Amino acid sequence: MKLTVIGTGYLGATHAVCMAELGHEVLGVDISEERIEALRAGRVPFYEPGLAEKLSANLATGRLDFTTDIAAAARFADVHFLTVGTPQHSEGRSADLSQVHGAVTSLVRHMQGSHLIIGKSTVPVGTAADLQLMVSALAAPSTEIRIAWNPEFLREGHAIADTLHPDRIVAGVPGDDAGYAENILRDVYAATLAQGTPFIVTDLETAELVKGAANAFLATKISFINAIAEICDLSGGNVTDLARALGHDDRIGRKFLGAGLGFGGGCLPKDIRAFSARAEQLGATGIPALLGSVDDINLGQRRAVLDTVVRSFDGAVAGRRVTVLGAAFKPNSDDIRDSPGLFIAGSLARIGADVTVYDPQAMEPSKRVLPELTYAPTVYDALHPTEAVVLATEWREFIDLDPVEAACHVDRPLMIDGRNCLPARAWIDAGWDYRGIGRRY
Ligand code: UGA
Repeated sequence: MKLTVIGTGYLGATHAVCMAELGHEVLGVDISEERIEALRAGRVPFYEPGLAEKLSANLATGRLDFTTDIAAAARFADVHFLTVGTPQHSEGRSADLSQVHGAVTSLVRHMQGSHLIIGKSTVPVGTAADLQLMVSALAAPSTEIRIAWNPEFLREGHAIADTLHPDRIVAGVPGDDAGYAENILRDVYAATLAQGTPFIVTDLETAELVKGAANAFLATKISFINAIAEICDLSGGNVTDLARALGHDDRIGRKFLGAGLGFGGGCLPKDIRAFSARAEQLGATGIPALLGSVDDINLGQRRAVLDTVVRSFDGAVAGRRVTVLGAAFKPNSDDIRDSPGLFIAGSLARIGADVTVYDPQAMEPSKRVLPELTYAPTVYDALHPTEAVVLATEWREFIDLDPVEAACHVDRPLMIDGRNCLPARAWIDAGWDYRGIGRRY
């Protein structure tokens, strides 16, 4: 099939490459010349394991290309994926839909004949129906444009596997679809469906809500275990053992019960706020109350670690040396959006601490937003000679650190393991004052 993918950020670039990998002819579109130039040259403008290789391989087949010319996109195909960003609005908690509206308006202006626009971006419920009204009003005479919604569930760091082998495919189609959009989606994903992937056909509103509900549930699980971690800290329990015990109940499951600094990134934080804001607009009370607490608990985790560092210096943090290991919001990513590690590093620097940061992938983006911090070229340079270490991202390089060797570099062996990822006993045996989140060992 011929497909376009409008918006080549994290989601769109991955989707374009994976659709070509499935055998489709794909044109990726973006307004950023720089991004399109990079993608055409086989360069991925962010860090995602395996994506650069797949991009180059598919460019070489001739099935994949990129352009900034939206008119060319309207001519190239009659099935278009919409993968632009929906960031948090600069004022308030709602999603900013300006990229969605901008992309659809400019695409529709050039369309002739019958087209299907398949939204993948995370949007507030009701957006697809509004877009249907908007495109019908803008469409040229004898042009028919339909909207469908096919939310994306990929995780950064696992983007290719999540796109090619998803847990499920959700097809949101309009009430009067009569199989039109559903059949196109079945054809697009034929290879994936042949692997037995569940295919859920529903209305537009449910498809939009599934995505918000999925991220809200994941965020709730993380804040739940962090609230339990607080009780463990106060009572002497161990949240890691507790999560393992809970996880054996397959109604609960072990995944996303990792206590620590909580969730960051470009998705969960802004998605729970937008979901809650939309629920409130609709007059719902349950979700705003629940997700308000989830957000508060999550942000409280960062503040608690910050307090631990400050208290370790008896409140006098000015001029003291602190190391933050991990600036990416999670491992296998260079994404620093809403990064707990950078929040802690930036907050400590603002109250006068001498902060050094090291991250295996996210140094350049971090330097751009927080140039006032010191950036060390290696993990051991970052430890030398610090007085407190905060481990903020569970990169393999940090998990594998030798606590004996690490102790030789520091002035004061205080390790705050913000991801509960270190073998605590080995660090304690090597002389470290080890502090986990909801666990002492
Ligand atoms: C998340 C969802 O997991 C995807 O399904 C969804 O498609 C995506 O958002 C999106 O909306 O586009 P992602 O933001 O890549 O994916 O990251 P996650 O793996 O969900 O991690 C989010 C945050 O939660 C990270 O900061 C991570 O460190 C934290 N986390 C995760 C915990 O604190 N504890 C856990 O047990 C798991």
